[in-house]
Amino acid sequence: MACWAYLRPTLFSIVAVLCFLHLFLSYRSDIQYPNFGIYAGSFCPAFLCAEKAQTNESNPDNSTEIQAASMDAESDTLLLIWMWPFGFKFDLNCNSFNMSRCRMTDDKSLYHKAHGLLFHHRDINGQLSNMPKLPRLTFQKWVWFNMESPANSFPIPGLNRVFNLTCNYRLDSDIPVPYGYLEPVTSEDESFKLPAKDKLVCWIVSNWNPNHRRVQFYNELRKHVEVHTYGRAFGKPLSDQEYQNTVLSCKFYLSFENSNSRDYITEKLYSPMKIGSVPIALGPSRQMYEGHIPADSFIHVDDFSTAKKLAQRLLYLDQNPAEYMQFFNWKSLFKVKHTYFGRDHACKTCKYLQNHRGYHAVNDLNGWYWG
Ligand SMILES: *[C@@H]1O[C@H](CO)[C@@H](O)[C@H](O)[C@H]1NC(C)=O
Ligand SMILES: *[C@@H]1O[C@H](CO)[C@@H](O)[C@H](O)[C@H]1NC(C)=O
Repeated sequence: MACWAYLRPTLFSIVAVLCFLHLFLSYRSDIQYPNFGIYAGSFCPAFLCAEKAQTNESNPDNSTEIQAASMDAESDTLLLIWMWPFGFKFDLNCNSFNMSRCRMTDDKSLYHKAHGLLFHHRDINGQLSNMPKLPRLTFQKWVWFNMESPANSFPIPGLNRVFNLTCNYRLDSDIPVPYGYLEPVTSEDESFKLPAKDKLVCWIVSNWNPNHRRVQFYNELRKHVEVHTYGRAFGKPLSDQEYQNTVLSCKFYLSFENSNSRDYITEKLYSPMKIGSVPIALGPSRQMYEGHIPADSFIHVDDFSTAKKLAQRLLYLDQNPAEYMQFFNWKSLFKVKHTYFGRDHACKTCKYLQNHRGYHAVNDLNGWYWG
């Protein structure tokens, strides 16, 4: 103990000198990012830089640049988008999030300065050949990003003990980003008016698989109530505008997910809610849906023992508009917001990195997601 107490200040002085050299050299050799602070955050692991700042305070000869760098070190965060998700590029700014001191780049030459790297699962090669080969930096966090359900994406061997954080629609991921969410309405929002409707039940579907529970349920349901069908599966693909007009003209919409996975609740639910149709949910359990949206805002197929009983209920509600309108009570409190694919995930990741500098590791990604 006594020995350590003696060594500590000496060690910290050495560290301070090394950090200073790093900062000085990087400042001189790189003109792309004139902001000085970003180097402090990236070239010195956070705990070293924190010590350096303390050392500087007790040293009257330190330069003003170093002081500025130390102050910025804690807040500037650089996120490197290692691969564009599905090749889809998005704006590299988080203006709509009212966030400062978060920078995003797709310039791989900034690897050594990045606090976080974002990897999109579907774009990782099977042999991990497009993952960084460079030595892992001690302060750097690698983030796994995937919005496909386990049934729609495949585990890649070798991804355990690679990532530090998960960014996914699942609420138990480190950076949860659902497909949609409800926000309080403000005085600027128009009050809800039910769109004119001339159909009872509609479904728009492109991916048709007879083994999917949703197809089996539809085949049963249509025996008892007319279902208006659209989409590629029915040879009737819709434009965005046609999608909107179709959904709003229906009292109920079949929000049938293609797989039943924890928290896997997509725009198939949020879009009709936003447009003004009542979703009939098929996917995870009602209880899970209620973790995302109000219990009285939707119908769940499991609320009925048979498709026939559901059909009877829909036909009843068709004749009882006052009861039907109860499904929209939530509209006076909340409005639906959609997640902007890629950008929102990156911005939330950057913010998370800013606020969580500690150690974190995902040891069993494949077990957690596909287990
Ligand atoms: C944005 O952030 C500033 C400073 O933290 C705050 O004063 C302002 O209210 C925020 N604006 C919004 C729309 O959240
Ligand atoms: C990130 O995860 C890797 C792999 O588990 C680990 O070696 C590394 O120390 C972690 N880094 C941080 C900053 O948490």
